[in-house]
Amino acid sequence: MVCKLFAVILAVAVCAGVAFGQPIPIQRCFESPSSWSGFFFRVDYSSGQSDRGYIFYNRTEFRLMYSFESRIGTPDIDKHWLFYNTRKSYFYDENANTCEVEDIPPNEFIPTFGSPRGSEFIHYDRLGAYSFNLGVTVDYFRLRTDSGGTYRGYYSPLYESVATDFMCVPVIESYENIDTIPTHQRNIHWTYMNITTDPIPPFIWELPTACRERN
Ligand SMILES: *[C@@H]1O[C@H](CO)[C@@H](O)[C@H](O)[C@H]1NC(C)=O
Ligand SMILES: *[C@@H]1O[C@H](CO)[C@@H](O)[C@H](O)[C@H]1NC(C)=O
Repeated sequence: MVCKLFAVILAVAVCAGVAFGQPIPIQRCFESPSSWSGFFFRVDYSSGQSDRGYIFYNRTEFRLMYSFESRIGTPDIDKHWLFYNTRKSYFYDENANTCEVEDIPPNEFIPTFGSPRGSEFIHYDRLGAYSFNLGVTVDYFRLRTDSGGTYRGYYSPLYESVATDFMCVPVIESYENIDTIPTHQRNIHWTYMNITTDPIPPFIWELPTACRERN
């Protein structure tokens, strides 16, 4: 389990910092590992909708998939594939068996799930408890835009190394009036849980017939 591993390593790193006086803030969390999957919960403040589900991500293969259940109205499973190599987005409604196919805008790249470019490292923080590893140590980043938007991101480092670009996994991301790309993140709060780098089963990337027919 990735979580247990970084919690233990970070506890050691934080204690070492205190022993030498000042912990040295090292900027890291520029990107996540190249592939992982996990559970997410998101709230869209603009549309008043929230949903939860699974996220599958493989940057090496240029693909991302969300499988989620709306928490408003009738339970319904939706699946959203984003294939950045073919630049196609497939939105599948399982109940209705319909698929919407769209082009991914040319200026939208596969997310790196790291602190956004231009964001500022604020401080180390703790979410949850220190005892029994019932929490996670995070790096907190903030980005303020000229138009009054604020991004806040909490990332948990995977492991320490001598390199400067340590990889992290996202824990919480909060977009408030953000107009930058991708625009659909404008007013969204994300929570990620149980992220694992275990292999993603190949069937996750298989499009249903309703989507394949639209190709
Ligand atoms: C996350 O993992 C824990 C421990 O394996 C499990 O108890 C919990 O149900 C999982 N949560 C989700 C949302 O999958
Ligand atoms: C991501 O894709 C690469 C290349 O196909 C593969 O080697 C790797 O196992 C994949 N990662 C996961 C988590 O499935």
